[in-house]
Amino acid sequence: MSRSRTSQDLRPSAFAYRNASSRTRTNVRDQALYCESVSLEALAARHGTPLYVYSTAMIRARLRAFARAFRSIPHTLCYSVKASSTLAILRLIAGEGAGFDVVSGGELERVLRVNRNAAHKVVFSGVGKTASEMELALRSGILLFNVESSSELNLLASIATRLKTPAAVAVRVNPDVSAKTHPYISTGLQQHKFGVPIPDATKLYAEASKHPYLKVAGVSVHIGSQITDVSNFRDALTRVADLVHALREQGHEIRYIDAGGGLGISYEQPRQNFEKQITAYAKAVLASLHVHRLHGQRLNVHLLLEPGRSIVGAAGTLLTRVLYRKTNNGKRFLIVDTAMNDLLRPSLYGAYHEIVPLKRAPRETEITDVVGPICETGDFFARDRQLPVMQEGDLLAILDTGAYGAVLASNYNTRGRAAEVLVDGIRSRLIRNRETASDQIRLER
Ligand code: LLP
Repeated sequence: MSRSRTSQDLRPSAFAYRNASSRTRTNVRDQALYCESVSLEALAARHGTPLYVYSTAMIRARLRAFARAFRSIPHTLCYSVKASSTLAILRLIAGEGAGFDVVSGGELERVLRVNRNAAHKVVFSGVGKTASEMELALRSGILLFNVESSSELNLLASIATRLKTPAAVAVRVNPDVSAKTHPYISTGLQQHKFGVPIPDATKLYAEASKHPYLKVAGVSVHIGSQITDVSNFRDALTRVADLVHALREQGHEIRYIDAGGGLGISYEQPRQNFEKQITAYAKAVLASLHVHRLHGQRLNVHLLLEPGRSIVGAAGTLLTRVLYRKTNNGKRFLIVDTAMNDLLRPSLYGAYHEIVPLKRAPRETEITDVVGPICETGDFFARDRQLPVMQEGDLLAILDTGAYGAVLASNYNTRGRAAEVLVDGIRSRLIRNRETASDQIRLER
């Protein structure tokens, strides 16, 4: 049996097959894919395709699982806005009491629109903050700046002085730990542009502490994304804990450790138990914070976490319709109405996303590529994938596209961005309109 058929049968997520008429799970014949209690076929009919659909219940469940896993330590979850930044998603996450990790003035504007008071739980990360972004962040009263160079520290100091507003800073250190993930999303090695090498960080803290408008407050680290071996987090946090001790001995007040994001999800084995995964992650992160290996005591810090993918990744799916079937020299293609401009991950990282039909009537399978209409060979979602035989007009769901899906969309080929829908139980709400050609042309002269 093919990989996709095995996991679609067993997928215990917000996206499950149900009997379309009675809504029970009994009859395999003619079952249809639902998000919570809403039929995805009905959503595709109402809003068209390509369509991103997200599950409220799953996002909530993930946030709560994080809170449970880290309940033994004071902590704030600062959801990484870059993973999925649609206002309704941010509102849902803010409603659960979370803060945010932002990397641009634009992301901060989004958070402020959702809730002005959320700023006090915002951390600002990124290697290239501009003066105007720093000013907006200072005026909004954010919690922490994760500073990544001496030049950035100087610029922040001068703006904080001009505004007479103190800036709380953490230095983002580069722990020289391999994240063993895709090279484009690994960030914690010496050759990467991110962070400050640990031996150089003490100099930055000394500089910062001399400045009247900079307030040394923490140490931050982020080693990469889609990390599945949690021992990498333990290694990074061990180095950070050592640095916190050293800095405290030098008289710095270190209140926060920002452990970044990076916890991976199971794109290929969706049966994996998230509770287990998050527990292992928490154990790895907390190992050196609960009892320090040299000093034998609790580190006594407030932990900040910046998860993105692990909160929203599995909570989103991208619906698409088969436009054409095509065979070239015996090689089969399903040409769908969604393209690399809607979901870039397969083209950019060679990422795997499970693809399943919305209707699960028993049928033959075949080996096929699933490709989009864009004029590039790299415009594909699956290569040589075993899928049920699909006909023109049939609907497919590209799974686990809640993170780094809609946010990475572009207008390449003057294609409008997909519409987005948020499901909550039996209800569904359009949270972003489909972009039209006039939306795209509006700013041009
Ligand atoms: N904090 C910082 C400083 C980050 O740079 C990132 C992600 C996160 C938190 C959130 O990481 P997460 O928990 O989502 O792994 N476009 C790529 C992923 C890029 C991640 C960039 N930084 C992808 O589609 O796989």
